[in-house]
Amino acid sequence: MKQNTCNTIVVHGRGGPEVLSWEPIPVRTPGAGEVRVRIEAAGVSGYDLMVRGHWFLGFTKTPYTPGEDFVGIVDAVGPDVTDFNIGQRVAGWTFGQGSGYSEVIIRSAETLVAVPDGVEPVTAAAIITNYLTASLVLEKTAKVRPGERLLIHGAAGGLGSALMQLGNLARFEMFGTGSNNSTQFIAENGAVPINYKTENFVHRIRDFTHDGVDVVIDVIGGPRQLWRSSLCLRRGGRLVMLGMASIYKAGAAIIPLSLLTAGAVALWPNGVSVPMSPSMLSYPAKNLGWYRDTLTDLLENAAEGHLRPAIAAEIPMSEASRGHAMLEAGGLVGKVVLTNSK
Ligand SMILES: NC(=O)c1ccc[n+]([C@@H]2O[C@H](COP(=O)([O-])OP(=O)(O)OC[C@H]3O[C@@H](n4cnc5c(N)ncnc54)[C@H](OP(=O)(O)O)[C@@H]3O)[C@@H](O)[C@H]2O)c1
Repeated sequence: MKQNTCNTIVVHGRGGPEVLSWEPIPVRTPGAGEVRVRIEAAGVSGYDLMVRGHWFLGFTKTPYTPGEDFVGIVDAVGPDVTDFNIGQRVAGWTFGQGSGYSEVIIRSAETLVAVPDGVEPVTAAAIITNYLTASLVLEKTAKVRPGERLLIHGAAGGLGSALMQLGNLARFEMFGTGSNNSTQFIAENGAVPINYKTENFVHRIRDFTHDGVDVVIDVIGGPRQLWRSSLCLRRGGRLVMLGMASIYKAGAAIIPLSLLTAGAVALWPNGVSVPMSPSMLSYPAKNLGWYRDTLTDLLENAAEGHLRPAIAAEIPMSEASRGHAMLEAGGLVGKVVLTNSK
């Protein structure tokens, strides 16, 4: 990084991973209430891929810099900032504003938390988006109670593995779907693995539980998938629709079809509900106390060894396009993390 410039990933137009370009931009001094962070690591998520590929038409205007989370070292603070010191390691979520794929970011101090000693930047980066989302969903959307049974789809992915590890800490009984590479990882994280490529998950859940599970968390989406997920639920069960990982293969049409299917499941007279999640973009921004306390708690759990996020790959920030291509190709276990050299 030169004195008054840094490099950042810029997306000038929608498209494949090749639209991510590494470019110099000016770096400014932080203003009142702001902190400047030299980024060490940033997570790549399924959300980044969806935004880049046009799925949210008109949602994020180009040009933009992707990246929903980051970990780094404070290198300058605004005149009135007293909570953070230069040299301190911090983590932050950007609440849909992107800019994590960069060498430097400036954020308001109230959106940052300290990273405890002993937590590596890559580990902390793998926690932020997925574990905060998973916490919000388990607590506020699914409202999972002790003794309940969960089915987590895509359990070896970034979000699925976070749901599984938090569910394991809470001692929920869990089942997790994944492909050939991930069944061992799913079993090691406390869930009964179901290989969605070779097994019928509806039959497997019926075999294991007889009357079904209490909660299905579905990050895959698509009408057939969601309907089959609803068949895994017992009376009083909740179907939580949390993502559309199948969009890469099936295309954007699955968004309206998934919403229609969720509506049909909610109306079908079988005692199953489809609770809506609070917005992952606006909820933490409007509930900064919840966000800071939860992230601090998650990072402390990582420092104590209770949470061990799986890292699928560490890739130089300048090669973010390679990270996107890897995540899109699938078959990974855990999170793809981008890193800047020191
Ligand atoms: N709502 C939110 O706030 C929020 C936050 C984060 C993520 N998300 C969404 O959640 C989704 C997943 O994100 P992610 O970052 O976890 O992606 P990811 O790391 O790519 O994980 C997706 C996982 O799903 C598995 N999978 C694919 N098709 C499957 C199927 N038919 N049945 C079961 N598993 C299947 C993949 O396994 P294989 O590759 O081995 O097939 C992979 O492990 C995305 O749509 C993302 O936008 C939402």
